[in-house]
This record gives sequence, C-alpha cells and structure tokens, in this order.
Amino acid sequence: MGTETCFPGQCLQARQHAATVSGVRQLARDTWAVKLDCPQLGQDIVPGQFFMIRPQQGSDPLLGRPFALFDVCRDAGGRAIGVEFGFVRVGKLTSLMSGWREGDVVSVWGPLGNGFPVPECRHLICVAGGIGQTPFLAVAREALGHGTYGNPPRSVIRRPETTTLLYGVRSSSYLAGLEDFRMPGLEVSLATDDGSAGHRGYVTSLLEQRLQSAAADSHVYCCGPEPMMRATAAVCERFGVPCWLSLETPMACGFGACFSCVTKVRQPDGGWDYRRTCIEGPVFRAEQLVLSED
Ligand SMILES: Cc1cc2nc3c(=O)[nH]c(=O)nc-3n(C[C@H](O)[C@H](O)[C@H](O)COP(=O)(O)OP(=O)(O)OC[C@H]3O[C@@H](n4cnc5c(N)ncnc54)[C@H](O)[C@@H]3O)c2cc1C
Ligand code: FES
Repeated sequence: MGTETCFPGQCLQARQHAATVSGVRQLARDTWAVKLDCPQLGQDIVPGQFFMIRPQQGSDPLLGRPFALFDVCRDAGGRAIGVEFGFVRVGKLTSLMSGWREGDVVSVWGPLGNGFPVPECRHLICVAGGIGQTPFLAVAREALGHGTYGNPPRSVIRRPETTTLLYGVRSSSYLAGLEDFRMPGLEVSLATDDGSAGHRGYVTSLLEQRLQSAAADSHVYCCGPEPMMRATAAVCERFGVPCWLSLETPMACGFGACFSCVTKVRQPDGGWDYRRTCIEGPVFRAEQLVLSED
C-alpha cells in the first residue's frame, strides 16, 4: 500500500513495508543496530530521513516509533536491499527491539521527513550527541563519495574538502559504531563527559576549537539532546556558520495527522508558529527554531 506525503520543496513517497530483520549487532552499552530487508525503503531514503517502526504482531506498543537511517544495506552489485538503524534502549519498544532476532518480521513506515540537505560547503562538520550520531554515517558517506542515496540518487555537486564528525557521549562505553565511521577522508574527534575517551567535556568545545581554525565556508549538521543542540546553535551563531539541527521530537503518527510532534518555528513577521517535525523536519535551519530557552 502506498501513500504520498508532500511538503514544501519536496514530494516523498512514504510506504508501509513488512520488513524482515536480517541482522542484529550490539554497538555499545544499551545500544544496538538492526538491519531490515526492505529494498524499496533502501532505494528511496536519503541521509537524515527516518521511518516509523512497530512490531508486526500485537498491539503493544500500538504506535510506531521514529528511527533515523544509519545506512542503506546493499548487495554485492551495489543494489539497495534494505536499511540499518541504530537505537539506544530507553523504553517499551526499544526494550522489545533489543530482543529482535534474524527472521522476525516488523512493520516499517517510510521514508519520512526531509533529511539533511546535500552538502554544499568547503568544510562539513557533523556534531553528534549520544545516539544522535546515527544520521551521520550516511551523511559522511554521501559527502565523501562513498555512497549515493535516494531515487533518483542525489548528486553532490560540490564535495566538501573536509568532512568531520565531532561525537560526544557520557562515557566511552556509549561510543557506538566507531568502526563504521572509520572510512577514508572522515576525521573523527571524540568527547566524553568523564574523559574516558577523547576530550574531557562537551562536544561543543571541540566545535569551538574547530571553528576557530576553519569557520569560513563551514556548515554544521547537528543531532543530539536538545541542550546540546541549543549550545551548538549558539556556537554557530557566534561564528556566523550556517547550522542545521535534526530534532528528535516524540512522534505518534509520523505523517502529519496528530500534531504530537510540533515545534516552534519563526515566521517572517517576527512571530512564531507551530510546525510538525515529522513532515517539515526533522531537519531545520537553527535560526528558524525557537529553542526552548529562547
Ligand atoms: C526523527 C527521529 C529520529 C530518531 N532516531 C533515533 C535513532 O536513530 N535511534 C534512537 O535510538 N532513537 C531515535 N529517536 C528517538 C526514538 O524515537 C525514541 O527513543 C523511541 O521512540 C523510544 O521508544 P520506546 O518505546 O522505547 O520508549 P517509550 O516507552 O515511548 O518512552 C520511554 C521514555 O523515553 C522518553 N522518550 C521517548 N521518546 C523520546 C524522545 N524522542 N526524546 C526524549 N525522550 C523520549 C519518554 O518520555 C519516556 O520517558 C528518534 C526520534 C525522532 C523524532
Ligand atoms: S507525528 Fe503526528 S503530526 Fe507529526
């Protein structure tokens, strides 16, 4: 069954899929990655888009939960055969998901949302906090020319000269997918609250250091907890660097019907209005958003 979800600037096809789990691996403490056989979704999805997942059987939980694309899975010939996503166990569905095994069939609805723009800058800096690193594997692969995404495939006209991941977590045991991020051309810098890996302190300190040496023609893509995104937006504003934030607003439907995912977006008249993160986001320019301490 297919349903078209259209919104300004884009018209994307979201479909309901019955997808088979084809792999489960533990990435870090309380953190897993799941591969789903789902060729159509793998073909259509672009970095920063997401999908809603729920169990195929039963009604608990009744509502799907949103998860970002980690990467597209491909066969030996490079054809998209599915998607992989990463998740941290926080509640009902993610606890169930940590017990999913190969062969389980699950319900997936996507691709959803707008995704990150195709990079168009000299220096692309991805700033991730906690499980907010998941969108940046595909972002980095696309920026570095290691993969193409979307149907038809998006093309990167101006490839960044440098692509960097600044990745902060509480402690080294939460660092997830570092092997996946080891790819030619990607610079990775780590920060941990307790100093158990990389810089001791916030990932935004790494961003400040980075922008002190290379702010000109840099773009920042950020995903993580809201206070960290607020701090990232403030640093970018100070350096005059364009910044995009991917919001992780809780969502109930994923296609614009329930208004459970609204966020405050600035309007041209100086006021603000609510916008649905599931169809107008999850990625927004930072200056568009009225972040909660504003
Ligand atoms: C666009 C988008 C992409 C996302 N991508 C990922 C991803 O790639 N990997 C990942 O692990 N998570 C991701 N999330 C967050 C993920 O959807 C939630 O962790 C998930 O819904 C929790 O489901 P649950 O049933 O396990 O928890 P629930 O039982 O629903 O809730 C458990 C607890 O978590 C809290 N909670 C639920 N959702 C959120 C949230 N979004 N932010 C803060 N607290 C929340 C609840 O208030 C509650 O306290 C994404 C969210 C969005 C909107
Ligand atoms: S999740 Fe229902 S409107 Fe966005």
